[in-house]
Amino acid sequence: MFSKYKKPSSEAAPALKEPTPKANNVEDLTAIAAPQTSVRRKAPQAAKPVPIDKEVKRKQRMSDIKLELHRALLDNLNLSALEHATEQDLRQEINAISAEVLAEKSIVLNREDRKTLNSELYDEVTGLGPLETLLKDETVNDILVNGPQQIFVERAGKLELTDITFKDERHLLRIIDKIVSAVGRRVDESNPYVDARLQDGSRFNAMVPPIAVDGSLVSIRKFKKDKLGIDDLVNFGAFTEEMAAYLQAAVATRLNIIVSGGTGSGKTTTLNALSSFIDNAERILTIEDTAELQLQQTHVGRMESRPPNVEGKGEVSPRDCLKNALRMRPDRIIVGETRGEEVIDMLQAMNTGHDGSMTTIHANSARDGVSRLENMIAMAGIEMPLKAVRSQISSAVNLIVQASRLQDGSRRMTSITEITGMEGEVISMQEIFRYQRVGLTPDNKIIGHFTATGVRSHYAERFRMWGYDLPSAIYEPFAAQ
Ligand SMILES: Nc1ncnc2c1ncn2[C@@H]1O[C@H](COP(=O)(O)OP(=O)(O)OP(=O)(O)O)[C@@H](O)[C@H]1O
Ligand SMILES: [Mg+2]
Repeated sequence: MFSKYKKPSSEAAPALKEPTPKANNVEDLTAIAAPQTSVRRKAPQAAKPVPIDKEVKRKQRMSDIKLELHRALLDNLNLSALEHATEQDLRQEINAISAEVLAEKSIVLNREDRKTLNSELYDEVTGLGPLETLLKDETVNDILVNGPQQIFVERAGKLELTDITFKDERHLLRIIDKIVSAVGRRVDESNPYVDARLQDGSRFNAMVPPIAVDGSLVSIRKFKKDKLGIDDLVNFGAFTEEMAAYLQAAVATRLNIIVSGGTGSGKTTTLNALSSFIDNAERILTIEDTAELQLQQTHVGRMESRPPNVEGKGEVSPRDCLKNALRMRPDRIIVGETRGEEVIDMLQAMNTGHDGSMTTIHANSARDGVSRLENMIAMAGIEMPLKAVRSQISSAVNLIVQASRLQDGSRRMTSITEITGMEGEVISMQEIFRYQRVGLTPDNKIIGHFTATGVRSHYAERFRMWGYDLPSAIYEPFAAQ
């Protein structure tokens, strides 16, 4: 019956044989998922007067059946042959095995439950188990796992707890193992955390016990195939059309731009959207820890830095990539995030002919961003007087765009600030646009509006010379002020 993918009969184990856990290939990893204790459906409860939550019971029953069937699948499927199986074949095979086991155990399920069960089994065998549904759910931005029983997701800027769980820590660990071994990495007690990229491009980070105290911690930033563009961001209220026009002039006239913001504030999304203003004729090189940017131009060279392997070898740092990029005749360099010693080369590149370069940093305001840059330079071991450091920053960076996630979950560009030079020892800046908060609605939504500050751009003349003659009205403050 399970011709192609069934194990030879000598190997096939009886449907409920205890599996042998451990080892590193996918087949054995999958085996670890099988439960250690025998799975029994709960005896029907005697008619007690207590209210029974039918949905919870149904879910429990489904979960028990799934475990039982999963084990039967592991025993019956020749997992190493699965790689070559077509999806249709495999689904058929799984449906057949599950039908057989259900019949054997006299378990009757309705059509819908059976369909769900089979699809979950398919995810379990081929994919990432409980995570699979969330990965497919387009409305989910982030998936955050705090141990096997708690999975949060972020939708529209808000965190919510899901009712999806892993069977236990072993199950969660198996899925983590499956992900990291697919990219040639390992995670265990001696390497308790790992960064990786899923096949679909999503960014993945995991930390396992004992460092993660209550069970493994997993964070996934979902990869969006269709990144939000400038128009989407304007429509979502992330910034205004006037700000977009200003940013277009800034990118097109090759200002060096830093997008600053907190975790998940929309830095990468903003950087990606800004890149759409780059001329298609330019050669762009991108450097990222995890390739997330999706540039629309034809001439793009993408680099992904690499952490050291288990033996501590083979590292290619962002700085290595950046140094090399400078030898690759770039017109522009885009660094996904500057967080370490690569800052030196980034500023140097911005100062020496690779103007129009862009990056992001973790900071809560433009001023804070500049201090972060100063700190990074100091941490990189460069001994330079503070004034020299500041002068280097002020001549390298033209614009700091602040991305923020506000308390109601909305993401907005809360400030656009120009760096105009030095005054004594201090870097001088001027804010051109800002988001003005006014209040809070009863359901905790922020009320506010964008406004220009009334300061004309330091680069207005440059914009004009390059053919971006912005009307002076865009610098005028919002009338309601
Ligand atoms: N203006 C926006 N409106 C709605 N969703 C947004 C907006 N900006 C970004 N997002 C979504 O928010 C999530 C986080 O965005 P992004 O990856 O750009 O943040 P980040 O600041 O780069 O995060 P990290 O610090 O983790 O690198 C993404 O799923 C993105 O699609
Ligand atoms: Mg990012």
